[in-house]
Amino acid sequence: MSKTETEPHTESTMSQQTIKVVSAADFARNFGAREAFALDILVGLSEQRKRIPSQYMYDAEGSRLFDKITQLDEYYPTKCELDILERCAGRFAELADNQPFNLVEFGAGSALKASYLIEAFLKHNLDFQYVPIDISHSALEKLADDMTRRFPDLELTALISEYFTGIKWLNNRYRRKNIAIFLGSSIGNFSHAEARVFLRSMWNCLNNGDNLIIGFDLKKDIELLVKAYNDSEGVTAAFNFNVLERINRELGGEFDISKFRHIGTYDVFSGAMESYLVSLEAQDVFIDAIGRSFKFGPWEPIHIEYSYKYLESDIETLAAETGFEVIEHIYDSNRWFIDSFWRVKKTDSNG
Ligand code: TRP
Repeated sequence: MSKTETEPHTESTMSQQTIKVVSAADFARNFGAREAFALDILVGLSEQRKRIPSQYMYDAEGSRLFDKITQLDEYYPTKCELDILERCAGRFAELADNQPFNLVEFGAGSALKASYLIEAFLKHNLDFQYVPIDISHSALEKLADDMTRRFPDLELTALISEYFTGIKWLNNRYRRKNIAIFLGSSIGNFSHAEARVFLRSMWNCLNNGDNLIIGFDLKKDIELLVKAYNDSEGVTAAFNFNVLERINRELGGEFDISKFRHIGTYDVFSGAMESYLVSLEAQDVFIDAIGRSFKFGPWEPIHIEYSYKYLESDIETLAAETGFEVIEHIYDSNRWFIDSFWRVKKTDSNG
């Protein structure tokens, strides 16, 4: 059974608990979700280069379509990472040194991936608790139930919170080592500058000697990249169109998706796959919740997402710039993807 509380308690007699770390910002966010969505769309579609923040792609329908993408032959990243975890989970158990730790997962969606690590860690008799952190209450409850059913001996504390708030709370509560995991290629959805800010914030919340396991999709044959983001069954296109349909559903938008087309291209300079929806003709689209229309020229794009690809040397530079030491890169069999094992480096003078 899981339990939801606003006040964490000090004794843990049960092996699983769900704790909500509440802040004023949480309330503001929950009550103003529709307004925030409308505001982000207003800002994004008013820019000279129109854009829609990619976080809005993952409503229930978007998550269902993304799940379908991960099963397509052309979309290799998920398969590569599962290959790494299936073959090399034991290697991560060896790298985790033998003292009690929190296995902290950012973003609950990847529990399937985390379960490979958990299985290996339990097999190696490591002393740890699994701490998934996510802002979605329902996703966490489901994950906590699934994981306790699957691993009855697993100690689990699910934190409904922002990533960094959650990890700070955890540090106050349990003075033990952390192994943070940030799987998938989510870091690739940040620009290099944003990735540095994110990792430096992560570094700030972690202690000297803590570890981070982080996924990177590697630079590779451009044809393979382009196919992965333009699949032949049109699932990626449907996934992208869903964000316009979501504006229609939730904000009273009047997008006619037959007047847009999806395109995924690779920018050879920045090393990013870029996803766009392109207007096929001149059109005005009204959005009720914003109370105005937006003008689209023929062939005018809306930017949806970047997915930056890395070289090993890019990964090493990023680690060094943000205060981490790269301990080991773990590759899939094709060497298309890396889950990299990092260690936090802090000296007395820097933190
Ligand atoms: N962010 C993921 C990635 O970069 C998911 C994704 C796959 C995606 N195809 C997409 C996001 C198309 C936006 C558009 O791989």
